[in-house]
Amino acid sequence: MPHKKIDIFDTTLRDGEQVPGCKLNSKEKIELALALEDLGVDIIEAGFPISSPGDFSSVREITKVIKHASVCGLSRAVQKDIEVAADALKYAVRPRIHTGIGTSDFHIKSKFNSNREDILQRAVQCVKWAKNFVDDVEFYAEDAGRTDNDYLARVIEAVIAAGATVVNIPDTTGYCLPHQYGEKIAYLVNNVPNIDKAVISCHCHNDLGLATANSIAGVIAGAGQIECTINGLGERAGNTSLEEVVMVIKQHHSLGFYTNIKAQQLNPMSRLVSDTMRMPVQPNKAIVGSNAFAHSSGIHQDGFLKDSLTYEIINPEEVGAGESKIVLTARSGRSALAHRFRKLGHEFTRNDVDVLYQQFLQVADKKKEVNDDDLNELAKAYQLQESHV
Ligand code: KIV
Ligand code: ZN
Repeated sequence: MPHKKIDIFDTTLRDGEQVPGCKLNSKEKIELALALEDLGVDIIEAGFPISSPGDFSSVREITKVIKHASVCGLSRAVQKDIEVAADALKYAVRPRIHTGIGTSDFHIKSKFNSNREDILQRAVQCVKWAKNFVDDVEFYAEDAGRTDNDYLARVIEAVIAAGATVVNIPDTTGYCLPHQYGEKIAYLVNNVPNIDKAVISCHCHNDLGLATANSIAGVIAGAGQIECTINGLGERAGNTSLEEVVMVIKQHHSLGFYTNIKAQQLNPMSRLVSDTMRMPVQPNKAIVGSNAFAHSSGIHQDGFLKDSLTYEIINPEEVGAGESKIVLTARSGRSALAHRFRKLGHEFTRNDVDVLYQQFLQVADKKKEVNDDDLNELAKAYQLQESHV
């Protein structure tokens, strides 16, 4: 069976930019949008146009430079929001309005002081308003993760009948377990009669560290789009990380999916976002962290040097991370030490390395990491000592 394409909807410029301290100006947003298009994302959520004049103009400027990807603007289920989003998107080659409303009882009662029937009508109404401006309308059922499945299915059926082309099922609070999120998507696939008229989208938050697992469970159950951000940036604990879902799909070919993302650009893209948003990436972050391809313990280093596949499932060059790193610490072994000496141009016998290893351990116990200068010094002192014997 041919593989199924999973659309990548990037929301770094909207959900990602909601992170305190990550605010971007228009020039920075345009630069990131161009890089995202080049990376191969299918949809760029450029902002929330009604939220501020600055965001409106960023969305508009982005639509003028983006040639292939869809450009999307967020709105609430409010007529004015939708009109402003449509205006901001008017130069887009492929405009998409993303509109919706909270569907869980928490949202219906506490946020809207309303009832399920009223919310269903408002959901249908916002899609109809958006349809007056664009063909491509994505509906989000906010807090779908905690929404009763039967009611959610009724809402989704009604918004598709009103013209929604994509139906977004956000786990807004990051509450679902992967099997629950997968079952929710499967429930919609099996219980919404017109579901074949729309693409189901996964939008997962990472409050329990499950956003990537939940998104993958969603596509396995039948969703066709994943909403994600570079470096997993986003509200609170963040959103699904783009680089993670893309590499899960790539590494697990047997799932039967593919994306259009150019994997070699993942690390450069991650750095660009981190620098522009002034938001460092945690060193142990999958795919793009500085330690993602670093080996430091003796057992791992020895195995890795014999065959990289023993301790690496991804070639770092495949994701634009350069070469794997052998980090020398007090936990490293002789084979890593000999390897690094060789790289620095010092050829030592096994006996030499045995002696040098003891000296290396003394330095390593004092320092976190032994660097090339330390090794050159060790080598020089050893060679000098040998020449006097
Ligand atoms: O998390 C969420 O529910 C959202 C929606 C606005 C799509 O970001
Ligand atoms: Zn979100």
